[in-house]
Amino acid sequence: GLKKKEVNVLCLGLDNSGKTTIINKLKPSNAQTQDIVPTIGFNIEKFKTSSLSFTVFDMSGQGRYRNLWEHYYKEGQAIIFVIDSADKLRMVVAKEELDTLLNHPDVKHRRVPILFFANKMDVREALSSVKVSQLLCLENIKDKPWHICASDALRGEGLPEGVDWLQGRVV
Ligand code: GTP
Ligand code: MG
Repeated sequence: GLKKKEVNVLCLGLDNSGKTTIINKLKPSNAQTQDIVPTIGFNIEKFKTSSLSFTVFDMSGQGRYRNLWEHYYKEGQAIIFVIDSADKLRMVVAKEELDTLLNHPDVKHRRVPILFFANKMDVREALSSVKVSQLLCLENIKDKPWHICASDALRGEGLPEGVDWLQGRVV
């Protein structure tokens, strides 16, 4: 068949936000793993959509590994940024990391699309995607296409909608 266009995606966000769970759910069911452990450093994963073949850098969100993120910014043609919508205490930390990302020279002047997942929407005390968007001041991002989706990575809800959006934005 036709070879799909290859796209490098960076998956970023704090530890425990659900990055690896999301990426795992985007793979075909026979390629999904049952036991997900905290990521050490990063893992490279692949998944396909109808028109694209994604290579994902699934980065660890732990504080001690976050300094690795910037080494991959240049190669990222798209970013998936995952937020634990129920982790209100660390929303400000997530915002700090997002702001650092947006101000980095390898990101700042590029129109790289950013897909936000307001994840763990199944948790009773989770904030809405609108609230998460407000707390992260996403409306201030004027020079890049971005989109936020509420997701429940355990059930896979919200993921297709997000990936559809991303697929249409990758150049
Ligand atoms: P690091 O690799 O440490 O950066 O974490 P991560 O962002 O990859 O998180 P991971 O996918 O390992 O998930 C962390 C925990 O959150 C796991 O216990 C997941 O099962 C759980 N989790 C992930 N997504 C959801 C969700 O949508 N809802 C609920 N309730 N739990 C979730
Ligand atoms: Mg992980």
